[in-house]
Amino acid sequence: MNTRFFITGTDTGIGKTYFSGQLLQHLNAQGQQTIALKPLASGCERTEIGLRNEDACLLQKAASIHLPYEKINPFAFEAPIAPHIAADLNKTAITAKKLAKACLPALNQPADFYLIEGAGGWQVPLNRDETWSDFVKAIQAKVILVVGMRLGCINHALLSVESILQSGCHLVGWVANCMPPSMPHLQENIRYLTQKIKAPLLFGERGFASGIGFDFTGRVQQ
Ligand SMILES: Nc1ncnc2c1ncn2[C@@H]1O[C@H](COP(=O)(O)OP(=O)(O)OP(=O)(O)O)[C@@H](O)[C@H]1O
Ligand SMILES: [Mg+2]
Repeated sequence: MNTRFFITGTDTGIGKTYFSGQLLQHLNAQGQQTIALKPLASGCERTEIGLRNEDACLLQKAASIHLPYEKINPFAFEAPIAPHIAADLNKTAITAKKLAKACLPALNQPADFYLIEGAGGWQVPLNRDETWSDFVKAIQAKVILVVGMRLGCINHALLSVESILQSGCHLVGWVANCMPPSMPHLQENIRYLTQKIKAPLLFGERGFASGIGFDFTGRVQQ
């Protein structure tokens, strides 16, 4: 059973962590055992106990199974810059294989659902040759695309969908994340994307869609 979900987005700062928190809460309320990871984070705070990333800390708290920080954020960089540049500056090579291997301690922990948040958007490089798609394939996860509903999102969403599908990954559904301030003609934008994206809308203005395509029990009805 594949219950690993990779959470990507149309951009940075568009609600990947926000939605992950909502999904964890939703699953936890159903009595599901959940684990959440942010495997690669740039933009970390230096603390007495090591580098800490805000997203990773939020995910660590929101999951029902508490894992040590190192297991959920194995690659942490201090500078808030593109991860492959941060890695270069730290003389660290990130590869999809290395990242996948570093996630195994968490992914091998028994749970019902695993949420893995990416950094930035889908085409963010891990190195000169690889992007998130290589990692997603390595860990055999399914993809959820979070669309930050703001001006420009149609273009970003449709390009992201095209790229996810082209890479051969499975897009399980998308999220219309309605972040304040609300964009003009929000409903028309959601309607247009719903028509254009073949995968179901999982979460929108009124929270989780019920009975649409995906029942959050790990089964996908398509
Ligand atoms: N639907 C929403 N309602 C209210 N606030 C939201 C919503 N979505 C996102 N936000 C807020 O917007 C900010 C950016 O969201 P978030 O951190 O989830 O983005 P992200 O895509 O995970 O960013 P990053 O690329 O840094 O990981 C956060 O402060 C978050 O709380
Ligand atoms: Mg985030």
